[in-house]
Amino acid sequence: MFDFRIGADDKATMYRDLASALQGLVAGEPDSIANMANASGLIFETLPDVNWVGFYRNIDGELVLGPFQGRPACIRMTFDQGVCGAAAKTRRVQRVEDVNAFPGHIACDSASRSEIVVPLIRDGELIGVLDIDSPKPARFTEEDEAGVVKLGEILSRIL
Ligand code: SME
Repeated sequence: MFDFRIGADDKATMYRDLASALQGLVAGEPDSIANMANASGLIFETLPDVNWVGFYRNIDGELVLGPFQGRPACIRMTFDQGVCGAAAKTRRVQRVEDVNAFPGHIACDSASRSEIVVPLIRDGELIGVLDIDSPKPARFTEEDEAGVVKLGEILSRIL
């Protein structure tokens, strides 16, 4: 059993502890499905006010649903669809304060109000994206972005 207790009051410490827990959780395991599954569980359990955490994998230029926590979601997206598509196409983090104002946002859970999507890139190849949704508007700050990007760096190395 893994019982990570990450409860720091300040975000910087919380993300540092989360990154180190993630590193420990995936260390030595080569199976990417197992690692994505555990990563989504760890992040979902740790971050407050999130309703979906998961992965879309780049399969032949299309984003295909991977392991996640939350409600069943849209299975496939092109790089021209949704916030995830924008992250894949531009290879830049998409931090969206109001998903309803994002052209082409795909609402998998009508409760979602804000979202952050981090592209996962290794050796110049887009592996996929890490998508985190929240029912709170503007849930993700610059500090969250810095923390989630670090998680993405850990994941890019092992997926
Ligand atoms: N909101 C995403 C779609 C995926 S679900 O939220 C899980 C998007 O527009 O990229």
